[in-house]
Amino acid sequence: ELNRRVEKLLRQMTLEEKAGQLAQYSIGTPTGPGTGRDDYETLVRAGAVGSLFNVVGARETNHYQRIAMEQSRLKIPLLFGFDVIHGHRTLFPTPLAMASSFNPALVEQAMRMAGAEASSEGIRWVFSPMVDIARDARWGRIIEGSGEDPYLGAAMARAYVRGYQGKSLAEPTSVAASVKHFAAYGAAEAGRDYNTVDMSELTLRQVYLPPFQAAVAEGAATVMSAFNSLNGVPATANPQLLTGILRKEWGFNGFVVSDWTAVQELVNHGIALDGATAVRKALTAGVEMDMESHLYGPGIPQLVRSGKLSQAVVDEAVRRVLRVKFALGLFEHPYADEKAGAYVATAEKRELARRVAEESIVLLKNEGGVLPLSTSGRKIALVGPLADSAVDMLGAWNGKGDPKDVVTLRAALERRLEGKAQLLYAKGTGILSHEPSGIQQAVKAAEASDVVIAALGEDASQMSGEAASRTRLGLPGHQEQLLQALAATGKPVVLVLFNGHPLVLENAQAHARAIVEAWHPGIEAGNAVANLLFGDVNFSARLPVSLPRSVGQLPLYYSQLSTGRPAGTTDLTRMPRSTGEKYISRYIDEQNSPLYPFGYGLSYTTFDFSPPVLSVPVLKAAAVKKRGQGVMRVKSQVRNTGKVRGTVVAQLYLGLRGASTAQPVRQLVGFERLTLAPGESRDVEFTLGFQELSFLDASAARVVEPGTQYELWVGDSSEATQHARFAME
Ligand code: IFM
Repeated sequence: ELNRRVEKLLRQMTLEEKAGQLAQYSIGTPTGPGTGRDDYETLVRAGAVGSLFNVVGARETNHYQRIAMEQSRLKIPLLFGFDVIHGHRTLFPTPLAMASSFNPALVEQAMRMAGAEASSEGIRWVFSPMVDIARDARWGRIIEGSGEDPYLGAAMARAYVRGYQGKSLAEPTSVAASVKHFAAYGAAEAGRDYNTVDMSELTLRQVYLPPFQAAVAEGAATVMSAFNSLNGVPATANPQLLTGILRKEWGFNGFVVSDWTAVQELVNHGIALDGATAVRKALTAGVEMDMESHLYGPGIPQLVRSGKLSQAVVDEAVRRVLRVKFALGLFEHPYADEKAGAYVATAEKRELARRVAEESIVLLKNEGGVLPLSTSGRKIALVGPLADSAVDMLGAWNGKGDPKDVVTLRAALERRLEGKAQLLYAKGTGILSHEPSGIQQAVKAAEASDVVIAALGEDASQMSGEAASRTRLGLPGHQEQLLQALAATGKPVVLVLFNGHPLVLENAQAHARAIVEAWHPGIEAGNAVANLLFGDVNFSARLPVSLPRSVGQLPLYYSQLSTGRPAGTTDLTRMPRSTGEKYISRYIDEQNSPLYPFGYGLSYTTFDFSPPVLSVPVLKAAAVKKRGQGVMRVKSQVRNTGKVRGTVVAQLYLGLRGASTAQPVRQLVGFERLTLAPGESRDVEFTLGFQELSFLDASAARVVEPGTQYELWVGDSSEATQHARFAME
């Protein structure tokens, strides 16, 4: 039925109207470099626009929609898009932070709310999830994704798509997802945004593509092509990626939109001499919609008429766009409800935002049990530029979030401590300011207190997100100096970090007794942090990225390939460690290991794991291939060995030896959150199948090979030590 409607409409369309469906324009606050304005009302009336973005609000979107529905010849509804990245009005923690929850079901719930809020304002298409694997903390956009690991990344990718698109796109609260940026954008050389990517097909397929494939398999309606070139061919004109892999291999049925002016940028990339060639290359490669280049609308008809572009390519592109519009029910329900009333951050919305934040905040260090804090009769100094900065709590890409909805840490502590303990507040210094003049005042507050909470970190939108790569990853401005001065008072310092980039914390580590990685946690930032600091809620988050010791280690990730000269040990069942030896793969001035590893995070309790028990001692390659799923079960008993209730993220890692291609020393293949009372034990069981046990051979075919050996580790970080082994025959 849907296809019949699409074909019927397609038959009625002129070439110009077809080109119009493939053109997308930004109105409102731009999210890229300027491209000049058009008269959009006239274009919409002429049927020359398929989608508008950055127009938000029921009244605003309805204004343009009415022109399309009432004044254009074919009355094809506009599709309104927007960067809803980690919430629309109710801002949740940034995606990297949410990945720290290792809780896809919770992320799905949050993104369901985000989609519903957006759709109530006419936005039926969100430019999310960003599923780029990122292993270089210099890259500002690392905050928009789920970190360094393809397994976690794929789980999160599925969660976002399910949340946004719900059971059916036709539900009025559902929005079409746009999985981005296809592909390998996260591997931009030197962590510099928009930079070149050059990588092997094995790495592309084994590391960077799995989250995309997972999102597509989950039914993602659209994909956004990336800015970068990949192995010499810009992603936006890359037939191997867009047609070969996405459509032919994965059967993607939706449409691809370019990133902002990425079609025009093909000229800068040097693969097109003019806009017309850029249009031809992008469209024939598989980019159906041109975001902001202003090239498809006028360019396509000319190319078809001059015989340089086939009509069939254009028709197929239009079909794909129309299919999504029909699937969203836009023809039946083109308008948003203008009477819905203004946004209110209700208790229910806050509750979810707080839960997500609490599960996203990682406890990195807690020396001498300085945390949890107690309120009784103590004096607490709260210092630092992030202690009371509402706008920074919203994070980069903060949609229609409003700083007025944010509870800062200062606000939360003032409310919590009223009448119980004294709170002395001093900002100390700005985030980036070159004026250390407030440090003395902060030191005075510290001296007069029993404990110091230092809220330090990064500015949310200037220092992270798009076009915000950094080469120095310490605390910016005078914040390191402030921290040192606070530590010099001898008072215990609890460092609460609000940041986007994974930071280099060597210095912080030396000066803070406790370190809390809060990222940019959204509107409930202050309440969530306070609940954790005082122990009302236990920490349960784990790092989705390795935190470097120094910038020189980047890119850094736990699932490195084995080298011929591993550092510190040739026992490949152990993580490489630096030693003093020469002629091994190491630095002479730094360890190889991260300061804090992937999967790591502390709790107010402790856990132990029993060695993994396998359901069968050996596997047969042919049977694994045939049976596919559930060929090996791995069980471990997890025990809460501490004094309070807590949640652990049980993680299963697998390392493959003797395969025909070099494999990561270990790789995450399963995780599960378990909440245990003190002394309680519970079994955690993981099931492995062909997908987890297979790898890519030199021809990039997915295989299991007889004669390989599988090492397994279970525990609560990528440095898990409980080990078992089995063979593939
Ligand atoms: O969605 C974004 C993309 O991630 C980066 N460039 C701009 C787009 C639209 O705002």
